[in-house]
Amino acid sequence: MTGFILAIDQGTTSSRAIVFDRNMKIVGVGQKEFTQHYPASGWVEHDPEEIWSSVLWAVKTALKKAGLTASDIAAIGITNQRETVVVWDRATGEPIHNAIVWQDRRTAPLCAKLKKQGLEPKFTKKTGLLLDPYFSGTKIAWLLDKVKGARRRAGKGELIAGTIDSFLVWRLTGGKVHATDATNASRTLIYNIARNEWDDELLRILNIPAGMMPEVRDCADHFGSTDESLFGAPIPILGVAGDQQAATIGQACFRPGMMKSTYGTGCFALLNTGTDMVRSKNRLLTTIAYRLNGRTTYALEGSIFIAGAAVQWLRDGTRMIDKAAQSGELAAKADPTQNVYLVPAFVGLGAPHWDAEARGAIFGLTRNSGPPEFARAALESVAYQTLDLLDAMKKDWKGDSTQTVLRVDGGMVASDWTMQCLADILDAPVDRPTILETTALGAAWLAGSKAGVWPDMAEFARSWALDRRFEPAMDARTRTAKLKGWHDAVRRTLSTG
Ligand code: G3P
Repeated sequence: MTGFILAIDQGTTSSRAIVFDRNMKIVGVGQKEFTQHYPASGWVEHDPEEIWSSVLWAVKTALKKAGLTASDIAAIGITNQRETVVVWDRATGEPIHNAIVWQDRRTAPLCAKLKKQGLEPKFTKKTGLLLDPYFSGTKIAWLLDKVKGARRRAGKGELIAGTIDSFLVWRLTGGKVHATDATNASRTLIYNIARNEWDDELLRILNIPAGMMPEVRDCADHFGSTDESLFGAPIPILGVAGDQQAATIGQACFRPGMMKSTYGTGCFALLNTGTDMVRSKNRLLTTIAYRLNGRTTYALEGSIFIAGAAVQWLRDGTRMIDKAAQSGELAAKADPTQNVYLVPAFVGLGAPHWDAEARGAIFGLTRNSGPPEFARAALESVAYQTLDLLDAMKKDWKGDSTQTVLRVDGGMVASDWTMQCLADILDAPVDRPTILETTALGAAWLAGSKAGVWPDMAEFARSWALDRRFEPAMDARTRTAKLKGWHDAVRRTLSTG
């Protein structure tokens, strides 16, 4: 048996490996959760060794479940939680510290200092990003400044850095390849997305030696082969993309104006803007959607930090539900006359507010408010936040947005109630595809098409199939009143409010 494709999806809470056959059907899955470390308020870390062992376990499990061996796999595609960084020893491969996760806010003071120096426009112009602790650059600077001896070792060329894809490529190839792809590079705050190269000036400002950074390749490219000792036979790594970009590919959003939104821990909406690097006037990000055959396609991105995590909070924080899947059912029972709003600013607010200091708030409680109203408020908050992103996108995007349909994926979209709520609040159709594993599918397509076993872009786009379209059904008056309540709640939550 040959021609299978393996996708490694290294996410924020778990590592997954998925084997696809030639017909893009899933034949084996391995998944392992790993520990979240919260060493201080607002800090989030992962142990890179635990990430590594969870990836190995997931790959071996997926192969076993599929009844395959490494020699049946034509290629690997890697997709990953973005912005999270590791710094490791070039000679031994040993990390010098835990990985600093994308959600981590520890570099807020450094970002504030750089902003005060008037540097944000420079960073934004070159990288498409904002001076927020979300991105990798200030996290690398923190590691070099705070880990004993790190700056000296980095200066001597002993240390190298990378996002999780790059760390995995390094480990999988037995330390032979130090590379990343253009999408992951575009999230670091030190990569010039117009010139497609690490930016010397920004590296200098953050005091990061250029030699620490990986080589940047296309998303479908040769990233070396896995070391034979790992899985019994070498497997070529032919695809790499950050998870949100991989989902954009998996959703076949290849034409300008096409848009997807993924509901995982957070929610990330990406609008394909083609070769046009649209500069946002509404605090959205300009980012690389993918780079194929040296050609860069850009996207506008809206990033919300808490989406599925609001449901996790209902389950683990308030214990109002036992399983995430119950949230829609419970929300459906909510009293329609109550107006309870949850603003889930648990780790600040992302786009379009970028308020690192805001914290979560709940408004409109009455003596009758209980679990159903909390559940509805949590799910509605995801829809309202998506609306805020889409409104900002419509202002920035000069293309035809009247035809815009949102393609959705991620764990939350299994709930019909939540998807109907999303269509109602957006007042636009929401399309749920038959394959919900779009992130892994996108990574697999990069590798599979490069290996020549999967179809080209046009045919892959034709294979995208709709499970269900949710049409908006809320009357205009109710919607207007609800939106007013939401915007009022957000205003009262902002740290500047
Ligand atoms: O930018 C962060 C994003 O890539 C994380 O995605 O799905 O692991 O929560 P996820």
